[in-house]
Amino acid sequence: MIKQIDQYLEEIEQFQSNDLKEIDSFRIKFLGKKGILNQLFSEFKNVPNDQKKLYGQKINSLKQAANHKINQLKEQAENTLEEQGSGLDLTRPGYPVEIGSRHPISIVKNQIIEIFKRIGFNVSEGPEIEDDWHNFTALNLPEYHPARDMQDTFFLQQNPDWLLRTHTSSVQTRYMESHRPPIRTISPGRVYRNEDISARSHCIFHQVEGLYIDKGVSFADLKQTLLYFTKEMFGKSKIRLRPSYFPFTEPSAEVDIYWGLKTETDYRITKGTGWLEIMGAGMVDPNVLKNMDIDPDEYTGFAFGMGIERIAMLLYQIPDIRMFYENDMRFLKQFKPIV
Ligand code: PHE
Repeated sequence: MIKQIDQYLEEIEQFQSNDLKEIDSFRIKFLGKKGILNQLFSEFKNVPNDQKKLYGQKINSLKQAANHKINQLKEQAENTLEEQGSGLDLTRPGYPVEIGSRHPISIVKNQIIEIFKRIGFNVSEGPEIEDDWHNFTALNLPEYHPARDMQDTFFLQQNPDWLLRTHTSSVQTRYMESHRPPIRTISPGRVYRNEDISARSHCIFHQVEGLYIDKGVSFADLKQTLLYFTKEMFGKSKIRLRPSYFPFTEPSAEVDIYWGLKTETDYRITKGTGWLEIMGAGMVDPNVLKNMDIDPDEYTGFAFGMGIERIAMLLYQIPDIRMFYENDMRFLKQFKPIV
C-alpha cells in the first residue's frame, strides 16, 4: 500500500498541463469527494497499528503535493491566458473615474458656513413647512401686518396656518425657543416665495441667516462681523449699511459691498454705482426677544440674512438664476469640488 502511495506521488510530480479543464479533472481525480485521497483516508482504519504512523504521514504529504501541484499549474495556466488570447493590454492606463462636482449652491453655502464657524457660530436647521408663528408672528409680524407683503407666501391649502417658509429666520425662532443665550447660530436652507420666475428671481431659493444674542452685543459688533465676512468671502473690505426696514430688527440695514467699476460686468451688476447689495441685517427687535422669553433689558443681539443664489451668481458670473435648477450637466460640470 505504501508503494502505491509512492506511485501516486510520482504521478503527481510528473503531471503537467496548461489546460484549466485538464487540471480540474486531475484535481477531482485526487482531491474530489470520491477521489484517491479520500479512498486512502477511508482505508486508514484497516492499516495495522504499527504502520499507521508512516501511512498517515504518507497520505498527508500526498495531499500536500497534490494541492501544491494543482495551485501551481492553475496559476501558470491563468497567466498564459491573460498574456495570450484575452485581448487585454494590461499596460494601458485605466479609464478615469469621473468625480462628480458639487452644486454651486452647495459650494457657496459650505463656504459661508466655514467662514462663520471660524468665529464660533454653529449651524441650525429647521422644517421647510412652517407654521405662522415661527415664520411670521414670533418675528414681530402679526397677522394683517403690512410687512407680510414683503414676502409673498405659499400657504398650504388644507390649513392656512401652515406655509412654506419664506425665510430661514423661522429657524432662528425655533432655535431661540430651545436655547438660551449666548446664541451664535447660522441657519442655511431652502425658502419659498410666491414670485414670478425670471432671470433674477425664483419661487425657490436658498438663504443663510445668522443670529447672535448675548449681553452687550452692539451695532458695532454687527458691522465688524459683516466686514469680516465680506473680506473672507469676496476679498473686499469696503461695505456700507443703508437704513432699511425689517419687522424683526430695529434698527435695520441693507448691506452693500463696494464691488468696483473695473469691468463692463461691474458696471452692469452694480448699475453703474460700484455698490452691490448683498444682505439684510439689523439689531434683533426687543419684541422678538420678548416673544422668545429672552429679557431685552439683559440681552441684545443682531441678525442678518442673505440669498445664496445671489452670491453664487456674483462669484461665478452666472447670468440667470434659473440655471441653478435645470440640472443641465454642461452647467453643473463646471464647478470643481472644493476639497
Ligand atoms: N429674513 C430677511 C429676508 O428674508 C433677511 C434678514 C434677516 C434681514 C435678518 C434682517 C435680519 O429678507
